[in-house]
Amino acid sequence: MAKVAVLGYGTVGSGVVEVLEKNAEAIKLKAGQEVEVKSVLDLRDFEGDPIQEKIVHDIDLIVNDPEIDVVVEVMGGVDVPFKFVSKCLEAGKSVCTSNKALVEAKGPQLLALAKEKNVNFQFEASVGGGIPIIRPLNTSLTADKILKVTGIMNGTTNFILTKMSNEGASYEEVLKEAQELGYAERNPEADVKGHDACRKIAILTSLYSGKTVKYGNITCEGITEVSNEDFAYAKELGCVIKLLASSYEKDGKIYAITAPFMIDKNHPLYNVNGVLNGIYVNGNMVGDLMFFGSGAGKLPTAAAVCADVVDCVRNLDRTLPVFWSEEELELGKTDDEVRAFFVRVKGTDINKAKEAFNDEINVVRVKGIDNEFAFFTEKMTEKEFNEAAAKLDVISRIRIDDTVLN
Ligand code: HSE
Repeated sequence: MAKVAVLGYGTVGSGVVEVLEKNAEAIKLKAGQEVEVKSVLDLRDFEGDPIQEKIVHDIDLIVNDPEIDVVVEVMGGVDVPFKFVSKCLEAGKSVCTSNKALVEAKGPQLLALAKEKNVNFQFEASVGGGIPIIRPLNTSLTADKILKVTGIMNGTTNFILTKMSNEGASYEEVLKEAQELGYAERNPEADVKGHDACRKIAILTSLYSGKTVKYGNITCEGITEVSNEDFAYAKELGCVIKLLASSYEKDGKIYAITAPFMIDKNHPLYNVNGVLNGIYVNGNMVGDLMFFGSGAGKLPTAAAVCADVVDCVRNLDRTLPVFWSEEELELGKTDDEVRAFFVRVKGTDINKAKEAFNDEINVVRVKGIDNEFAFFTEKMTEKEFNEAAAKLDVISRIRIDDTVLN
């Protein structure tokens, strides 16, 4: 029997215990032996809860327990989990985590340590919740050159944007609902400011490039500036606004960005709504791929962590290869990226907008929104856009993503 310890009995941690119990038979079959939770590390006691008898408060009780083969880290944060995960790997235990902050900040070091100790460090649930995306990139797509990844990778913000778009709900109201449903990070700023999605594209880009992409080097804008008026225009135009986390290769450089984008009905992510995530991948041989499913939430995320546990139990005596070196990847500059933009401008001086951009701009107006006009630009670099936009009184601008399935 393989014994597991869980660090953190929060939403995902309790989900991991539930999945391992509920699906014990199926997991035994797939893992080749029974898998049982022996210890759960948490600061709390959970008096009266059946988990109480497994609760420990000292990480060393887990680190020094020779029966424990696999440790699940679902605490959140970076510094303490890094210390605990390092200790566990040092002690010859495999570790599975859903903690993208830890994976983004320390992934290559922890992978190197796991390799040195002949164990595994797995992190499928760190991107896309229950959607398999790490394993496909690590295994199924190794013969492909990945040209583009673009995805809706944050359930909380997609839940908020979908409700604002479909129901006209207020931002605060929907954020509260997402938190109650267990989708949001402990600090929802990480969700709404785009940092969570940005970490996820940093992880995916690191995995397909084999080098380290730091999320702090990626242009990152959240959803806090997206307004009901922006949604009204999008609706009028048959478009939706989504927080996309993307990276792609162009002329030998990789560019990455996380920001709200306007997309039309031909875009593969147009119908990805609510807490669902969708990730589009394009490989030079395989072409288009779509990964779609629950991007957040207790059981989908826990199931992805438990699949890692099964993989670790199946491979207790060898390290599965993951290509992610500590060498930092120099990203292309956002200023050089080429795309079209949707712009809202104060006032009625359309000629000034034509002078700043060009004569062909298509002006859009929405009934009930006065003293402003909006238009799409042609494709141009971000630098050219910023220079032209600086000549106008811009209310908001939203980038356009025109990915289509081929
Ligand atoms: N807060 C994250 C989200 C959880 O909303 O997607 C899953 O990573």
